[in-house]
Amino acid sequence: GTPAHVTPTGADTGASPQLNSQQGAHLTTSQGLRLPDTDHSLKAGERGPTLLQDHHLREKIMHFDHERIPERVVHARGAGAHGVFIGHGTAAAVCKAGFLQEGVRTPVFTRFSTVVGSRGSADTVRDTRGFATKFYTAEGTFDLVGNNIPVFFIQDGIKFPDVIHAAKPHPDREIPQAQSAHDTFWDFVSLHTEATHHVMWQMSDRAIPRSYRTMEGFGVHTFRLVNAEGGTSLAKFHWKPKAGVHSLLWEEAQLINGVDPDFHRRDLYDSIESGAYPQWELGIQVFPDTPDQTFEGIDLLDSTKIVPEELAPVTPVGTLVLNRNPTNFFAESEQVAFHVGHLVPGIDVTDDPLLQARLFSYLDTQLTRLGGPNFSQIPINRPHAPVNDMLRDGFHQHAVHGGVAPYKPNTLDGGCPFTAGADMSAFVEFPQVVEQGRKVREAPASYSDHYTQARLFWRSLTALEREHVARAFTFELGKCYEQAIKERQLKVLANVDPVLCEQVATGLGLPAPEAENPARDVAPSPALSQIGGTWPVD
Ligand code: HEM
Repeated sequence: GTPAHVTPTGADTGASPQLNSQQGAHLTTSQGLRLPDTDHSLKAGERGPTLLQDHHLREKIMHFDHERIPERVVHARGAGAHGVFIGHGTAAAVCKAGFLQEGVRTPVFTRFSTVVGSRGSADTVRDTRGFATKFYTAEGTFDLVGNNIPVFFIQDGIKFPDVIHAAKPHPDREIPQAQSAHDTFWDFVSLHTEATHHVMWQMSDRAIPRSYRTMEGFGVHTFRLVNAEGGTSLAKFHWKPKAGVHSLLWEEAQLINGVDPDFHRRDLYDSIESGAYPQWELGIQVFPDTPDQTFEGIDLLDSTKIVPEELAPVTPVGTLVLNRNPTNFFAESEQVAFHVGHLVPGIDVTDDPLLQARLFSYLDTQLTRLGGPNFSQIPINRPHAPVNDMLRDGFHQHAVHGGVAPYKPNTLDGGCPFTAGADMSAFVEFPQVVEQGRKVREAPASYSDHYTQARLFWRSLTALEREHVARAFTFELGKCYEQAIKERQLKVLANVDPVLCEQVATGLGLPAPEAENPARDVAPSPALSQIGGTWPVD
């Protein structure tokens, strides 16, 4: 019968980014009319005024006038590449997702980004990096939308507009462009101390990576995995770069920002062109799906906490190889639309309140950024699985749908093949028991320790890495105009570690305060050492 959903390229679900735009030997208008000249407008006489009837002039200028689309509200600066993901089959006991099965090869597109800077900002600024991968699986598209830092600034997504307002340039001066060196940033993080753990990573060398190829990636949140028998586990995703984790020195990063602001973008492109394909292992940390959703006392729904690898090792489950550059930056890297809600059978979300807000945010922002509700039809966003939805019409609709009954069940368009729920290959949300409590705007008590893991991170660093962290705090805080903000952040650092606080206070020429709410002491034992980092020295 007639397929219910037909794309302009028929069965082609996205392999070719070029539609009907570059065919034939001659230059034409958008209507296919062959043009004799594109350099001179049509005028009333050689030196006379331009004629309104010049359709080519008007079409050319009109289209140019509308070439720009809004940049991403965050992560505006970035670059992507195509590749393949090869499953190892090692996740089978905990996850039934087809793309993780042994030897299964799935096409992917990965985009790396900074968070704060605008689309034209420099690559080697001190910032968290995005690490987002779209897996075009046979069961539908799965997006792993992560960062290169395993924790986040905030515990509840309702604060996301606030933290981004604080991190973006000041509304009056529109400075600084892409750094954490300003009053609103430090005002926010010193008042919202749940940010402390992330800030420690952000002041470390992790925030000035040498290359996208040498970054770890983290899904940050805890996800729920489902196996073929319906059994569930909780899990965190990790990307481990085969080239190892390497950072720039601060001085290198500053020089590169001036000499080659496209340093990371160029490095990604050149390495792929030269055949040195960047590679990562995808790994999972797996935890029992207990009712309290904690592991070794760590709340798994709190995205400001990690689970040290010594407590839950990372099992490799597949290899990512980036092996093809985009042919058109706008079509691919700019128009790609990731979303944490793009899931496949075997991977489900949890109640992490940060993740819950993200589930709303991505589709919503893309509605504006990509000009209407049909952005899943843009070539880079087209699933490689067959699509048969009941979404119709809207701005930029490219599909010519058949049939008369875009609803289910129906008796007009070839019966009723809709059997979701009965079929285990469909995505069925995990039937989690939801606590019947009061409606509240409160965080659980387990979210209140803001310092212990920040201290854990500090204690995991070598002496040289600590020196870099102390210098980064001094430099970035040194840019604040308001002394009260510096003093408040020093109080936060006193809670993390007195030595760090003392070093930064000295650098700023201020007295070091006493700790008011010190972190629980963290034994510098290997059992508590940090993800992927180096181990305690004292
Ligand atoms: C974009 C990661 C939290 C809203 C992105 C991107 C990444 C990312 C990697 C860039 C995607 C791309 O390359 O196109 C994360 C991580 C988070 C987090 C790891 C926390 C663990 C949030 C929260 C919100 C949010 C809490 C909102 C409530 C957005 C928006 C975009 C974005 C609106 C722009 C998307 C677009 O325009 O296509 N995020 N994010 N993010 N994120 Fe997040």
